[in-house]
Amino acid sequence: MTGNQALQRDLGHGGSAHTGQNSAIRAELVGGLLSHNASIHAKYFYDALGSKLFEAIGLLDEYDLGRAEAGIFAADAQHITAAAGVDRVFIDLGAGNCAKASSLFATLKPSHYVAVDIAADFLTEAVNRLQAEHPEIPMQAVALDFSETFSLPTAVPAARRLFFYPGSSIGNFTPLQAVQFFGRVRAACGADGAILVGVDLVKDAARLEAAYDDPLGVTAAFNLNILRHVNRLIGTDFIPTQWRHVALFNADQSRIEMHLEARCALRVTWPGGQRAFAAGARIHTENSYKYTQAGFISLLGQAGFSRTQCWTDAQNQFLVCYAKAN
Ligand code: AVJ
Repeated sequence: MTGNQALQRDLGHGGSAHTGQNSAIRAELVGGLLSHNASIHAKYFYDALGSKLFEAIGLLDEYDLGRAEAGIFAADAQHITAAAGVDRVFIDLGAGNCAKASSLFATLKPSHYVAVDIAADFLTEAVNRLQAEHPEIPMQAVALDFSETFSLPTAVPAARRLFFYPGSSIGNFTPLQAVQFFGRVRAACGADGAILVGVDLVKDAARLEAAYDDPLGVTAAFNLNILRHVNRLIGTDFIPTQWRHVALFNADQSRIEMHLEARCALRVTWPGGQRAFAAGARIHTENSYKYTQAGFISLLGQAGFSRTQCWTDAQNQFLVCYAKAN
């Protein structure tokens, strides 16, 4: 039984018997829906369909962030390995389909691979596939929401950890939250720990907006799908057709924002609550911060990482950094 099914069953008993985790999810989601600037945390994009839709986004011409990063990993694998060294405990935060990490296995030759992700079923499948391809590397799948706190299973070796945080996932945090997150990663590093992180660089607004509002509507589907996921999680009655996908570049904050905008006046209800939305009212679903190289090195430094080395692509679209915890 999944956590979601457990929650649905609890609701049938009057909602009285939540597990701690499910009541935390409910509190976070309801809090976001009821706040003055309504929001749904971006981590709720990634149910099974949302994870597939995100993979599809990566195939769009307009969303070249992943390809730019993969190009850097391919071109600079030797340099990255020279900086990081081989035989590391490679810990992949937000592993998804594990493709980015595994692209570095040939040069990085990790001693262990630990894949961490919030989407448990998707992750287990991906790690099982990868383990069959690389029987020589001990692997572990850890289903965990690491956005606010995290502790790894004790089976994960404590020395020579290399945390891997690719794909500009760091962009979902505000800069202050990003410093705090890097601080928690650094605290989990142990002896000879380090981080390898990828981040999208700030660029032309039109180019950025096209990447988050593609002509095929894949990103719109990804954004709208969060409503169905929330319906399953807490019993809301969102109707996706009543909402419109909005993506805009906020230059002052250097971030792409995604919102869902009510197409008409409507009401959303859930067990124990409701909220009315006027036509045009928005729910904020994602921030995706874009950095300069200097700004990002400074962010790592504020969290205590040092001796940062960076690699970019020829077009300066994307940045990969390696930094040491001590
Ligand atoms: C997974 C957070 C890096 O911000 O570009 C893609 C998610 N949202 N299209 C991003 C996303 C819309 C993505 N990250």
